[in-house]
Amino acid sequence: MSKHTPKPVRRKRMQRTIPIPSNVVLVDNPAALQALTVMRDERTKPAEMRAQLARLTSAIMPELMKDLIWSINSLNTPLDIAQGTYQGRRVTLVPVLRAGLGMLDTALGFFSDVRVGFIWLGRDEETAEASCYGRNLPPNLKHDHVIILDGMVATGGSTIMAVNILKQAGATDIRQLFVVAAPEGLAAVGQAHPDVMLYGPAVDERLDDRKYIVPGLGDLGDRLYGTE
Ligand code: PRP
Ligand code: URA
Repeated sequence: MSKHTPKPVRRKRMQRTIPIPSNVVLVDNPAALQALTVMRDERTKPAEMRAQLARLTSAIMPELMKDLIWSINSLNTPLDIAQGTYQGRRVTLVPVLRAGLGMLDTALGFFSDVRVGFIWLGRDEETAEASCYGRNLPPNLKHDHVIILDGMVATGGSTIMAVNILKQAGATDIRQLFVVAAPEGLAAVGQAHPDVMLYGPAVDERLDDRKYIVPGLGDLGDRLYGTE
């Protein structure tokens, strides 16, 4: 080997100390982690937060889509017959307001047969308990892939409430896309709804005494929309 031959670049794998629960698919590809890195940075302003949340959504969604039902059917190209991949079931996306709204436009772009329902939840500042302020869900959810879009799984209370609402409305196949989660919240969701899979790029260390995720990224709704 000549002395000018470049040394191979060592790819460092991230050290993971927290075990990932079985209800979580960790989507820690570099595209997702790069977007999350910008979102975590306290200097990032709302417009950039929204742009990075869209990127993050587009990095996670293809992994979630692998677990949906697809059907393979023939189609005619201008030259011959090819095998096409088509949605096997309708998809209903359910952004949880406010933060989940930032994922909606990007998520919509991945599906041809798709509807949207809305759930508006808020956490009490003192108790961190979730309350439902409103909902608007499409009918006949039973045979749909229902995908909740929400940013943070902190205590897990919001996810559990959203899933309860969707199951009461008839949904049977429910998944959630998230930005950052805490181990406590994932465990709570896993216990309440072991049938629901969650997809996201990072499981952080813990909750602080205000039930915020540490290190996390702060209050996602406020950081996306410039409120406090
Ligand atoms: C955030 C987030 C989740 C919830 C998670 O919403 O978008 O919905 O907190 O916390 P939990 O797991 O402890 O329930 P928030 O209530 O801050 O509302 P916002 O999106 O309107 O800011
Ligand atoms: N909601 C957020 O937006 N951030 C947290 O860390 C916890 C709940």
